[in-house]
This record gives sequence, C-alpha cells and structure tokens, in this order.
Amino acid sequence: MRILLLGSGGREHALAWKLKQNTTCDALFIAPGNGGTALLGTNLPFAVTDFDSLKSACLREKISMVIVGPEDPLVLGVVDFIRNDPALKDILVIGPSKEAAQLEGSKSFAKAFMNRHGIPTAEYKEFTIENFEEGVEYLQKLSPPIVLKADGLAAGKGVIICQHHVEAVAEFELMIHQAKFGEAGKKVVVESFLDGIELSVFVLTDGKNYRVLPEAKDYKRVGEADSGLNTGGMGAVSPVPFANESFMKKVEEQVILPTIHGLEKDKLSYQGFIFIGLMKVGDDPFVIEYNCRLGDPETEVILPRLKNDLVELMQATAGKKLDQVVLQVDTRSAVGIMAVSGGYPGNIEKGFKISGLQGNYGKQSMIFQAGTVLEGEDILTNGGRVLCVTSLAENIEEAAANSLDILAVVDFEGKYFRKDIGWEFRPS
Ligand code: AMP
Ligand code: GLY
Repeated sequence: MRILLLGSGGREHALAWKLKQNTTCDALFIAPGNGGTALLGTNLPFAVTDFDSLKSACLREKISMVIVGPEDPLVLGVVDFIRNDPALKDILVIGPSKEAAQLEGSKSFAKAFMNRHGIPTAEYKEFTIENFEEGVEYLQKLSPPIVLKADGLAAGKGVIICQHHVEAVAEFELMIHQAKFGEAGKKVVVESFLDGIELSVFVLTDGKNYRVLPEAKDYKRVGEADSGLNTGGMGAVSPVPFANESFMKKVEEQVILPTIHGLEKDKLSYQGFIFIGLMKVGDDPFVIEYNCRLGDPETEVILPRLKNDLVELMQATAGKKLDQVVLQVDTRSAVGIMAVSGGYPGNIEKGFKISGLQGNYGKQSMIFQAGTVLEGEDILTNGGRVLCVTSLAENIEEAAANSLDILAVVDFEGKYFRKDIGWEFRPS
C-alpha cells in the first residue's frame, strides 16, 4: 500500500504514526507534512489545495490510497477530483464528496440537512443582504446570548456569541455589509444559544455502514479555566466521563443514525470521518456543527486509544465493508496537551529549536508534532500550535500528570501550555 496523506498538523502526525504501524504500508507520503511526519515518511512540498501537484505526486509515486486530513481540500472537492480523473480513479480516497463536505463548508446546508432529517439542533433562521432588515428585527426579539454564524469556512473564527443586542446587530452588520468573514460569510445563520457541555463525537462511515470512534473533548480557550481567546485547540481528553452508555445510546439513535440515513437519502457520497460537535443539554444531545474530517487535537487522543489497524480500517471504509469491522478501543484515558508558541493565537515568532524530543518517555506517551519543520538534524518551531504530548493512563489525572512531566522537559523559546487540560474531570 502506497499512501498519500494530506495535511501538516498534529492530526496528520498522529495519522502517519498510526498508518506506519501497518507492515503493508511500505511507502507513506505526507503533503506538505511537518517535522514529525518527515521522520515517518516522505514530506512532499505542495499545499493541500494544489490539486495539480497532487495529481503529479499520485502518478509519480504510484499512490494507491489518499487520506485527507483538513477540511479545505475536501470542501474544494478533492475527492471528486480524484474520482473523476481517468488517471487517478482507481486510487482509494478517504473523505466526503464535495457536495457532502458542505456539511462543514456551509452552516446553512448543515442546518437544512439536520432539519430535513429530524436531527436535534438549535432553532435558527438565515439572512443575507436581501432580508437584512428582517434579520435585525429577528435579533432584537431573541434573548441573549445570541449566536451568529458565518455560512462559509472561516478558519474556525466564523461563530460569534453576543451577550447584548447592540453587539449582535453590530456584528450582523459587519458580516453582511462589510464581509467580515469573506463573501461566503455574507450569509448568516442566527441561532438560539444552547446551554450545556460540549463534546466531539467521531464516526467513520463508508456511506452505508458506520462505526463510532472514541469520543473526545477539546479545550479551545488559550487560558486556564477556559479563559481568554479561542484557539484551534489547546488539548483534549478521551474518553469523556459524562458521555456514558445511556447518553451515547441517545447520540447514536437521535444523531448518528439519522445522519447516515440522511446522507444515503440525499445521495451524498461519503467515505470518511464525520466529526459531530455536540452540546449535551440536560441529558440530551444537540448538534452544534458537523465537520467532514477528524479534529485536531482530538485525533491525538483518539488514535492512541484505537487498537485496530488504521490501514485496514481505511481499506474497509473505501471498500464499503465497515460492517465487517469490530472496533477495539483501549479503555484507558488519553490526555493530549498542546505546547504553543508565545503569543498564540495572536502573532508568534517561528524558527526556535525544540529540545527534548528524543527522550525516553515510555510507550504510554507520544509526542505529536504540529507546527514544526525538520532542518538538518534539528526540529524547529514553525507555527502557533507546535506539538501535542499525549499520555495514556488509568485515569485523566494520571494521564495529564504524565503529559505535563514530559512538557517540563520538551522545550523551545516562548513555550506555553495549559496545565489544566481535563480540569473538570480531575480532583482539585
Ligand atoms: P463552531 O465553529 O460551529 O464549532 O462553533 C464554535 C463554538 O461556538 C462551538 O464550539 C461552541 O462552543 C459555540 N457554539 C456554536 N453554536 C452554539 C450554540 N447554538 N449555542 C451555544 N454555543 C454555541
Ligand atoms: N479541535 C477542533 C477542530 O479540529 O475543529
């Protein structure tokens, strides 16, 4: 099996690490990859949205499977690109079609899908420049907090939760009249606020069958006790203690099954990961959003718990044989803590040497690199989120303590990390 993985984050390092455990994976390429993936396979220097380079690489390296990490190429239609090209069509590809990727690419598409298939989600209305005045009136009638969502992809920044009407109207104006989140963000979904606890549920589907992967909870705020600015994710835990059997049964019946049936009914071709952002309100699940990929840093805690061979799982997904797969999951807890560059999520400096990566930390702990680059013998910082240290242990407290011990050793200039990942599940 000759595999090409698209992406360059901690998620892709974790995927590459898991793929390499399969002995039939004799060639692994990662585009563009990072310092961690460079040690597991061959990094190819092209952007994930550069489909011409993707095609050349597939032909040159005789690729038999493409796995897509991030959302951008999926929303741009990389799966259709491969399937529709006579020279590439035999390559197995993991990800939804362009149309199905609209579940992440358009909030409006996702909300209509949920309503059509009876999937629980917040009530909403959508507005554009055409019905702007009606939108302002609607906002005035809602009781805050008021949730505004830009329709298109906005690099995780397109959701604004407003505590006051004045702020909501001002933001709504900026989104529609000033294109604050670009052209696609000139359509705005306004929805009611869901008061509850969040978690991320991951499903692997071949379009007909599905398997529920371990769930996770990520910590999006930069500061301890969930304070400060939103980030791509500062750490994650899996399993999530409140996602007990009875709650997960509701999730499966009320959310996952209707989602899979909805994809089939709507003829949306999907062989890949579905990441369902959920809010547990009381004892009930509500969908906040769909993503058409794995999460980052959630992947860094999910994959270490997954005992199945990932290459076999991907083959079963592409071959529509997931019904023949029994998932095996490590019952231990995984805690992943991200070390980020000073100043993140604002301006950061890059190019600092990372030390301590080679230490003997035992096989219960892993260091997944994210914003890093290999230069000569050195691994240098190359982004906001630099690396994720994941540890497996009997409980969240112990796993977090082990990851923190490693983070005391692994070092680079400006290093910052949250010490309280999993705080609500750790004794104070
Ligand atoms: P999204 O980009 O859709 O993941 O939204 C970003 C974050 O906004 C989510 O992770 C939630 O914390 C929050 N959020 C989104 N929609 C709602 C909602 N209807 N009620 C409460 N919080 C929300
Ligand atoms: N950690 C959230 C995401 O990957 O979108």
